[in-house]
Amino acid sequence: MTTRRAFLKTSAAALAAAHLPIERSAWAAGSDVLRVGLIGCGGRGTGAAVQALQADPNLKLVALGDAFSDRLQMSLEQLGKNPAIKAKIDVPRERQFVGFDNYKGVIEATDVVLLATPPQFRPLHLRAAVEAGKHIFAEKPVAVDAPGVRSVLETCEIARKKNLSIVSGLCLRYSRQFQETVKRIHDGALGELRALQANDYRGRIWVKPRQTGQTDMEYQMRNWYYFTWLSGDFNVEQHVHYLDVCAWLMRDEYPVKAVGMGGRQVRTGPEYGNIYDHHGIVYEYANGVKLFSNCRQQPGCHNDMSAHVLGEKGTAQVAERGFQIHAAGRDWRLDVDKKDNFYQTEHDELFRSIRAGKPINNGEYMAKSTLLAIMGRMATYTGALVTWEQALNSKEDLTPPKYDWAVPLPEPPAALPGMTKLQTG
Ligand SMILES: NC(=O)c1ccc[n+]([C@@H]2O[C@H](COP(=O)([O-])OP(=O)(O)OC[C@H]3O[C@@H](n4cnc5c(N)ncnc54)[C@H](O)[C@@H]3O)[C@@H](O)[C@H]2O)c1
Repeated sequence: MTTRRAFLKTSAAALAAAHLPIERSAWAAGSDVLRVGLIGCGGRGTGAAVQALQADPNLKLVALGDAFSDRLQMSLEQLGKNPAIKAKIDVPRERQFVGFDNYKGVIEATDVVLLATPPQFRPLHLRAAVEAGKHIFAEKPVAVDAPGVRSVLETCEIARKKNLSIVSGLCLRYSRQFQETVKRIHDGALGELRALQANDYRGRIWVKPRQTGQTDMEYQMRNWYYFTWLSGDFNVEQHVHYLDVCAWLMRDEYPVKAVGMGGRQVRTGPEYGNIYDHHGIVYEYANGVKLFSNCRQQPGCHNDMSAHVLGEKGTAQVAERGFQIHAAGRDWRLDVDKKDNFYQTEHDELFRSIRAGKPINNGEYMAKSTLLAIMGRMATYTGALVTWEQALNSKEDLTPPKYDWAVPLPEPPAALPGMTKLQTG
């Protein structure tokens, strides 16, 4: 059984030693069939497969991979019922891969892979796909810890040298409306930026309590959202979207330090693993700009997902629910356009880039925005002031000793600020 650490170590060494070939850069005039594979056949992966198959006339979904056979079958069944893509599905038994090594079979059988597992596995799957010369759609977030982020940064650099596309599932960057609003702010509508705010307030999320007979690993993998080693905690797993919008607004500059607080008030039962149900973090940039980040998952409360900007000349709201800039004499708003289907656009652009031999590489921001969220978690879990350098260089590795169904995996306790130590260097 492969462990993430062992795989990344050997593949990094092999790649460093090897000459990096330039991959075939374009698929002649769209005439070749591109073989697509999906790793992680859950809700998002199944949706991403639909969008991928609609993005280009000459695609086939040829392989599926999942840790669990029932999840794979459910996805295949659902895809087969969709008349828009049915004819493009060709996944016989021999190209249905299950277990922890599923990704190897999928990658081998395909030209383009869609990565939609829980983020724990993204660094491993990304590295394996790039090493094999495959183009990638990678769901967010792309890691749960700093070693994972460093690996992804390295992988994306290798992909750049190999002319491979990596499109990130940080889908708001592919929205025309977000692009137009951010451009106006970048063009000076608010003057200099002074502060940002990122909100992600939601209610109940699915939970899968432990079933009799499940091993530690099976239980945690089924209920993955609630274990930090698998999801990164929800401020990473979900709030990364609006944190990334703030990173974009800041022209992909990242803060130098963060302090935060958080805890478990409502989701206190064992079925909620060890993640928190609220986090509040204040990030600070080198020029003194502050980013106030708040996320909460508690039912019965006010819900909102949005980013807000305070600038020298006014304020802005940048959110799926509406786009507004209020600045003296220059008020502007954009009504929500439901046709702005950014989930589709990201796949349209991925396949267009492959056909044209003009790779897209979203690696830098997808990795750094993931780290932005992880840095916040480090701050809320420990109560410490965390610098960007400490976060980036942290050796805290959440990978279990082995990806194995039988490995004993005691449930980790929730972090306690002031007692849980910041693991740096
Ligand atoms: N961009 C977006 O708006 C968006 C929306 C939803 C989810 N997502 C992301 O997509 C990812 C998956 O989320 P989801 O909602 O589909 O979850 P899900 O639980 O529905 O699906 C995850 C699937 O991955 C499988 N899996 C787990 N470990 C695996 C492994 N090692 N190899 C192969 N398969 C494995 C699970 O069995 C499951 O079928 C997450 O990273 C999430 O953040 C992004």
